[in-house]
Amino acid sequence: MKKLVVLSGAGISAESGISTFRDNGGLWDNYRIEDVATPEAWLRNQELVLDFYNQRRKQAESVKPNAAHYALAELENHFDVTIITQNVDNLHEVAGSSKVIHLHGELFKSRSTKNPDLVYEMKTWELKTGDLCEEGSQLRPHIVWFGEEVPMMAVAMDITEEADIFLVIGTSLAVYPAAGLVNYVAPGRPIFIVDPAQPEISLKKNMTFIQEKATTGMDSLIKKYLLPDN
Ligand code: OAD
Repeated sequence: MKKLVVLSGAGISAESGISTFRDNGGLWDNYRIEDVATPEAWLRNQELVLDFYNQRRKQAESVKPNAAHYALAELENHFDVTIITQNVDNLHEVAGSSKVIHLHGELFKSRSTKNPDLVYEMKTWELKTGDLCEEGSQLRPHIVWFGEEVPMMAVAMDITEEADIFLVIGTSLAVYPAAGLVNYVAPGRPIFIVDPAQPEISLKKNMTFIQEKATTGMDSLIKKYLLPDN
């Protein structure tokens, strides 16, 4: 089976009702990154950071995957699919995708502030001051904040280098190191980009830009390029 590697971003979950970050009215229009998504913010105002992610979790709990998430899950019948997602929601998994790498962490997990190996599934949407790990330290959101290392990056680079086909869907490619993954695709391998707006990348010969929303864009991609004979 050919290896299809997917880099997804907030845009794939937009039609499920989750706000993107940088579109008009996106999350970063209403919050400052440095107030809610950095280690310094956590030290300065833990309550604000907890509240920001509690709201994200509450919202994510009430949404469902859309046709684009389901289409990627279904493609496992035809390709060896790995999804590298920048999203912290779990919609790829809920839709049935079996190999999902979360580059920026997971909303429905918490982690010890002292021992990063202690990661817990969350049973409610709310994480509070005073919620402790088994060693007695405060729990924090299991999110990769700006300025923190991206622990899954090395794995993501290895998988990208092996891709026969690479798909970029619903990401502005504005955030590194994730955005740099396209540079690890082997020369000549096809790269497809599905997005209503062109991400921050200059289009090269091996790139096909499908300027559509995720749901209809996946449909076009599959019918025209991935499985034209089906
Ligand atoms: P952005 O908000 O930067 O980009 C969203 C992309 O989705 C844009 O290219 C939009 O054009 C596109 N888009 C909007 N609606 C869409 C739709 N219906 N279908 C398909 N695409 C659509 O989000 P990301 O690129 O995911 O990190 O942002 C990357 C990282 O920056 C996030 O993981 C997050 C953020 O700050 C952290 O919080 C660490």
